[in-house]
Amino acid sequence: MHRITITRPDDWHIHLRDGDMLKRSVNDVAAWANRAVVMPNLTPPVKNVNDAMAYHARIMAALEGYPQFEPLMTLYLTNSTTPDDIKAAAESKLVCGVKLYPAGATTNSAAGVTGLETLKPTLEAMQSHDLPLLVHGEVTDPDVDIFDREAKFIERTLAPLTDELPELRVILEHITTEDSVNFVAEARSGVAATITPQHLLFDRNDMLVGGIRPHLFCLPVLKRRQHKEALRRAAISGNPKFFIGTDSAPHTVETKESSCGCAGCYSAHAAIPLYAEVFEEERSLDKLEAFTSHFGADFYRRPRNQQTVDLVKIDNLSPDSLQFGPSTVVPLRAGELLKWRLE
Ligand code: DOR
Ligand code: ZN
Repeated sequence: MHRITITRPDDWHIHLRDGDMLKRSVNDVAAWANRAVVMPNLTPPVKNVNDAMAYHARIMAALEGYPQFEPLMTLYLTNSTTPDDIKAAAESKLVCGVKLYPAGATTNSAAGVTGLETLKPTLEAMQSHDLPLLVHGEVTDPDVDIFDREAKFIERTLAPLTDELPELRVILEHITTEDSVNFVAEARSGVAATITPQHLLFDRNDMLVGGIRPHLFCLPVLKRRQHKEALRRAAISGNPKFFIGTDSAPHTVETKESSCGCAGCYSAHAAIPLYAEVFEEERSLDKLEAFTSHFGADFYRRPRNQQTVDLVKIDNLSPDSLQFGPSTVVPLRAGELLKWRLE
């Protein structure tokens, strides 16, 4: 039996939700991660330290065991986030970053930013307090095709921003294109990217050929195969700018299997086995540990975890569905055999 031991991972990008959804999502990730960067796109969003403290308390109350688990909170950047909000966040120790959603780009982004021009003092405060900016990198310009929105965002917004604020640490979240891989690889230090399991495992053909598969619909949307291959090369490259961020984001089966389905894939039940499968296919299992357990901690300037976990090569059935209180969620690779299991 093939077994590998790696440092216990973290998840540098996850949606835990709230209310009925919270219990399962937090316990699923705490089963394998010591830390998780918790996205703030609730309704209403997590806008300031008080909101973050209250949400943190609800997360801790939903945990069943896992005393080591540490939720790292984020604030939702809005047009009215002030430098004082940033100062309070930086001093709170609970908040590890601020998330930029272009208004209308994705789930619960209505309160997002309509333009960065007026936010210069806020972004400068993030730079001076060394509070990272986490970016959903897509333009929302209706004239830009959805498959080009990430590349256009780099050109119009991200490249100028990383030049104008040379010390601001920036994470381009859930990258989906070769354009993003190249941008991040060539960017100044302090610019990094997270990569999800779905963008490493699937391309848009998997979602659309032979019928539409709503459980593979996420944002940014899956791209053509060439981009998946570039993401795989980045993940296995050993370049510390690329690290794990699952973007696990539960939606109920009814809201996914709908005439206007929600964006998001749920992977927290099996994230590390999913990544392991990719790294094994790329004959790079030796690079898995740094991607899942070292580079993100280094970027966020947190200690690497001390504990280890074992991954075993064994058939591992991904369930058809998962219960989230009264709701049902269809997870990634539902009803299919995964090749690895975490022990
Ligand atoms: O697919 C996605 N789902 N992308 C996002 O940016 C948000 C997320 C969610 O919250 O459901
Ligand atoms: Zn996300």
